[in-house]
Amino acid sequence: MHVMSQKPAVPLVHIETFGCQMNEYDSELVRSLLKREGFQFTEDRECADVILMNTCAIRENAHNKVFTHLSDLRSVKKHRPLVVGVLGCMAQNLKAELPEKEPIVDVLAGPDSYRQLPQLITNAMTLQEQGVDQKRLAVELSEYETYDDIVPERNDGVNAWIAIMRGCDNFCSFCVVPYTRGRERSRNPKGILEEARLCAEQGFKQVTLLGQNVNSYSYDTWDFARLLLEVADVPGLERVRFTSPHPKDFPVDLLKAVSSHPNICKHIHLPVQSGNDRVLEMMNRTYTCSEYLSLVDRIRTMNTQIALTTDIIAGFCSETDEEFSDTIRLVETVRFHSAFIFKYSERKNTIAARKYRDDVPEAVKSERVTALVDLQRKISFDRNREYVGSVVNVLVEGNSKRSSDQGMGKTDGNITAVWEKNGTSVRPGDMVPLSIYDSSASTLYGIAQPQPSSP
Ligand code: SAH
Ligand code: SF4
Ligand code: F3S
Repeated sequence: MHVMSQKPAVPLVHIETFGCQMNEYDSELVRSLLKREGFQFTEDRECADVILMNTCAIRENAHNKVFTHLSDLRSVKKHRPLVVGVLGCMAQNLKAELPEKEPIVDVLAGPDSYRQLPQLITNAMTLQEQGVDQKRLAVELSEYETYDDIVPERNDGVNAWIAIMRGCDNFCSFCVVPYTRGRERSRNPKGILEEARLCAEQGFKQVTLLGQNVNSYSYDTWDFARLLLEVADVPGLERVRFTSPHPKDFPVDLLKAVSSHPNICKHIHLPVQSGNDRVLEMMNRTYTCSEYLSLVDRIRTMNTQIALTTDIIAGFCSETDEEFSDTIRLVETVRFHSAFIFKYSERKNTIAARKYRDDVPEAVKSERVTALVDLQRKISFDRNREYVGSVVNVLVEGNSKRSSDQGMGKTDGNITAVWEKNGTSVRPGDMVPLSIYDSSASTLYGIAQPQPSSP
């Protein structure tokens, strides 16, 4: 009998995304780049010919997650032809060892190499058919790549991500991003504004501007404040957010833009990392604790409604108990709306890995994280209480996780709010005024108010 190998006419790709919002956006770019070369996508990894993982390298557990997924794929690959690709920051970071460590990886592509991806995958599929086991790698970082001409294939929803700059030149000593994402470069504002207009036309109500260092955006005479204001004026967009800014780049124009433009969300994510000057200096954050606090004051003096959130690392190299209590004191002083708290995780080749010893015992790191998480939970609880009795506008995202009888959305300050739908229909993208009657550390509970009828 003559058996023909059944090559799929159209290769089906499944993509899984780990890490930050920039990776979410990049996966949408990858989808667009592959679709125009004839690839199709499936949500179901069981029927995929190609499985891509867009990975993160920020902390050890991000790495571990990907290794677990890869070892799961080993048995799948034994039973059927499959091309496995690792994309993103971990591909860039582990370009030397990953192909050896994980033989099932066929394709490796870093964040600046996605244009090569269709070719790499096609080559890998051909080689696999011929029974040749050879890796295809593209891991060059670029000083220029911004994918400016690629319209991402966006996920449905209320929010559209738009990357406005890529890379980072800050070299915080703990951080791997400058090595995985390369040098800082900003996109042409023309392309960004076109993309924002397209998002509005497609029905997205919110746009989030993204960059590893979003507020150091700079292109010709354009700075971040100017770009933010122009995006906020795009007809049809109701809310504009941005993440992540660095505390060093907050000129008064930017503060004015956030505090006064009605479409720019009253929320600033302002990573502080530590509340101790010696630790901040070792981290190479370039601000002192008192400079950070005075920025917080300036923000709140301009507009008391701006919700502040932050990132903190506990147990950085040589951090003493006393220095850690400075962080506790800073958190008590600022009273953030919420905070992401991380245990320091040494990343190979970073400045901290080369210069300092990761000498805070694991148990102490855990204790510090727990202390901060407990403190922050109490503060978030009290902060959210302040909304009880008021009416807040919520942009509807869908149903709550708990029940399809409940709606779920976000406030301007990015706090999750839920309400009983009581048979009324709410569509994602609607703006609903909620009268808040209860709250927890993470959620506001409200009653939907009748929409004011237009005059
Ligand atoms: N570009 C963003 C942050 C990107 S990483 C910014 O500068 O704000 C998100 C957060 O991860 C950081 O703010 C930091 O708190 C944390 N982080 C980064 N590297 C880390 C490491 N090696 N160990 C623990 N947490 C880390
Ligand atoms: Fe990492 Fe610092 Fe750059 Fe943020 S600013 S990506 S923490 S090096
Ligand atoms: Fe992770 Fe890379 Fe984002 S390391 S946090 S995916 S920039």
